[in-house]
Amino acid sequence: MNTITLPSQRSYRIVDHAYDVIVVGAGGSGLRATLGMGAAGLKTACITKVFPTRSHTTAAQGGIAASLGNMAEDKWQWHMYDTIKGSDWLGDQDAIEYLCREAVPAVYELEHMGVPFTRTEDGKIYQRPFGGHMSDFGKEPVQRACAAADRTGHAILHTLYQQSLKHDVEFFIEYFALDLIMDDKGACKGVMAWCLDDGTMHRFRANLVVLATGGYGRAFQSCTSAHTCTGDGNAMAMRAGIPTQDMEFVQFHPTGIFPAGCLLTEGCRGEGGYLTNSEGERFMERYAPHAKDLASRDVVSRAMIVEINEGRGCGPNKDHIMLHLEHLGADILHERLPSIVETSRVFAGVDVTKDPVPVLPTVHYNMGGIPTNIHAEVIRPTKENPDATVPGLMAVGEAACVSVHGANRLGTNSLLDLIVFGRAAALRAQEILKQHDAIAPLPAGAGEDAIARLDKLRYAKGNIRVAQMRDSLQRTMQRHAAVFRNNQNLKDGVTKIEKLWPELADISVADESLIWNTDLMEALEFENLLANATVSMVSAEARKESRGAHAHDDYPERDDKDWLKHTVSFLNDKGEVSLDYRPVHMNTLTDEIQTFPPKKRVY
Ligand code: FUM
Repeated sequence: MNTITLPSQRSYRIVDHAYDVIVVGAGGSGLRATLGMGAAGLKTACITKVFPTRSHTTAAQGGIAASLGNMAEDKWQWHMYDTIKGSDWLGDQDAIEYLCREAVPAVYELEHMGVPFTRTEDGKIYQRPFGGHMSDFGKEPVQRACAAADRTGHAILHTLYQQSLKHDVEFFIEYFALDLIMDDKGACKGVMAWCLDDGTMHRFRANLVVLATGGYGRAFQSCTSAHTCTGDGNAMAMRAGIPTQDMEFVQFHPTGIFPAGCLLTEGCRGEGGYLTNSEGERFMERYAPHAKDLASRDVVSRAMIVEINEGRGCGPNKDHIMLHLEHLGADILHERLPSIVETSRVFAGVDVTKDPVPVLPTVHYNMGGIPTNIHAEVIRPTKENPDATVPGLMAVGEAACVSVHGANRLGTNSLLDLIVFGRAAALRAQEILKQHDAIAPLPAGAGEDAIARLDKLRYAKGNIRVAQMRDSLQRTMQRHAAVFRNNQNLKDGVTKIEKLWPELADISVADESLIWNTDLMEALEFENLLANATVSMVSAEARKESRGAHAHDDYPERDDKDWLKHTVSFLNDKGEVSLDYRPVHMNTLTDEIQTFPPKKRVY
């Protein structure tokens, strides 16, 4: 066993490991990557801070998109167009082509692995409509969301975990990843982790690290995200000098239960549910005359907030909207939306077979993340090459920004993103790594910075509790990075976030133990949340247009002349952000399909 001794003379014993590949995170993308790496014979370990089947993918409800055409004609080219339009033209068109083409085989692969999809009468995978998914390049809603009732993510996650156990992969469960190990040439060589269970410190040496750590929804007060969604991988990347991309784009899901914030799937509206204001009006007909309640999420969320702001909200405080499902009948609801029936009863006290349920837009997804190419390789743009990659490092899932979602993701494209790019990572790994390649040695001092950071927090005896700082951060994000933004509000948000950085020096962690010290872990997670929130707010303040989920009152129009570009944000250890921009890929992968030039986005 090795030891790291810090300048303070405190020492930490280190358990060393060596693998071809380390995957950090065991949600849908992490498990799909782990499974593929293991199947290719690569010596693979997956590090996860929660038991794999508790990962946040389990909360995905309504479905996974693929143009199977089981209910009516459908084509991957239509899916591609809808995804580009949904992204408000910020998505990279080559990556979107890859996503939509690969969707069909990816879903059949899941079916063959054993995912218990709901079936049509003739035994095919059942597909429901979802917002923004249309036939024939935007004409009529199409049934493209392949569903396992309203528990699709749960079904996929369990299947992937069971399948990955068939291969010779190792799971390090309830290990908290601290930081990447980088060499002086900027290549990734491994990762440091803390075992929560027994307090030991671990140094994983690897030829390839895959970050699959999910989003940072918990930077907000109200979100559908699990408490584990603290943007750990994004923050690890930023501490290693790697940028994040398009972090200003945060998706609000229209139907969070009011006031709890937990998810009521868009599948509710897919099955025929609809929204009303205090006058009982189906107001979406005014905002999206064609798609109505099945417009894309940014459009529906904005419409709901406008209704509330103009005094047509429901309830004594006129602060929410009503979602109606009662007309669908108890049989359909129990068969297709059983979790919604239960969640509404538990969190809103509403029997949805009889009454409407109160809803309000709530934070749901981060379109931004660590920039990657379609092989999941992480990009650190240089002046000469905006697509230059970081050796030894990949990112997949919500932690990554490929970018297939651009400024606004379509519902059910997230489960698809996890599976398609988790698989792409494993395919690329097979090309770039050979079985039993020597595992590169570690650079001098590997892991010392990570241990020093943990040690500093472990003995932090300041005046501000972690929970207090997190509360300030969450309130700031909720208020200043909301559905509608404006110059002054964003400027104030940046100022408030900047003030939190010096307060880090005054943080207090209650307990010095390394064994199940949840306060220490929350302090580490808070640092990660703060890093994510900072680049998100600064990137939002800088973008002077409205596009997708970034609705700016002072610049209400999309501006393709000046702003059809990805934001690239670098963060230093003082919390200072520098922004750069890189071009959106308007090209497709093959000549088989033309690109889709930007046009007005109406539903
Ligand atoms: O509404 C939902 O079921 C969520 C799906 C998604 O975000 O893809």
